[in-house]
Amino acid sequence: MKFELLVLLSLNVFYGQAFLFSQNKADPNWNDLKVTWGINPFDSNNFQSLPRTQAEAISKGWKLEKNCSQVNGNRYILNGDRASILIFNARGIIAGIASAVPKNLPFNFPSQKIQPLFNDEGDAYTISAYFVDPVSVCSSELSAKQVTGDKLIIKGQGKELNVALEQKDLNSFWTQGKCFRTMGVHYWANIDGSELNEDISVDNFTPVFLLYNKGKLNGFGWAFIADLPSRRYEHPGQDVLGMFFNQTPKFFSDPTKSGRLSTLHIYLDSTPQFNFC
Ligand SMILES: *[C@@H]1O[C@H](CO)[C@@H](O)[C@H](O)[C@H]1NC(C)=O
Repeated sequence: MKFELLVLLSLNVFYGQAFLFSQNKADPNWNDLKVTWGINPFDSNNFQSLPRTQAEAISKGWKLEKNCSQVNGNRYILNGDRASILIFNARGIIAGIASAVPKNLPFNFPSQKIQPLFNDEGDAYTISAYFVDPVSVCSSELSAKQVTGDKLIIKGQGKELNVALEQKDLNSFWTQGKCFRTMGVHYWANIDGSELNEDISVDNFTPVFLLYNKGKLNGFGWAFIADLPSRRYEHPGQDVLGMFFNQTPKFFSDPTKSGRLSTLHIYLDSTPQFNFC
């Protein structure tokens, strides 16, 4: 009896706190979900922790945006802001995060080349990152393994990027950029798979970057060539881009090809202030 009770209790803890108690030593220690880098860590808009259960999201005022009958997950947004869309699985546990960008933006963002990374949802394109197998998200038969959050998969309607958890396992799709403290070592990509250099065409710029610290993936983000209004977004000026790229693409300084950027740093653990690369 006692044993059964213990098992039940631990299962409860496991489902509820899957992020906190990783089952497997090889699993990443992703114990948070924070968005938005800022120079001032005391500004509550910066490094803000987002809910990782549907129950917590609802209690904090997040509202259902779309559900498993329409998209891959039960998605929640705060105050109508689709810059950070939380994706919960059928059990109400965080399964990923998405951002929506409106259609008809200047510079035709997102370009035809990168559109496969997005989903066309009629009024907007969304880009989604999953922390579990995307196929599992709306399944009512979720296994214990599937709620842990031990993957990073960017999945759109025509392309999927399965991101290495260890820096040493990165494939040649990714080009190393610079280390920036409180972020990590950045990696960028040319959607064609060739090295990202300063001559990359604006249409080939993959709107995703990766962040590694001590050789492990503990963050990533979006980089949209679009001036988006949400306070979640950061807007790095052209003058600082050299801090993130080894070879800064030239198109950033060509006003006929790009304008103000909107980026979003997404942290998977609670200590971005110690991201020293
Ligand atoms: C899911 O969304 C559909 C379409 O908007 C709606 O009809 C349905 O009631 C929703 N289900 C839940 C559980 O919210």
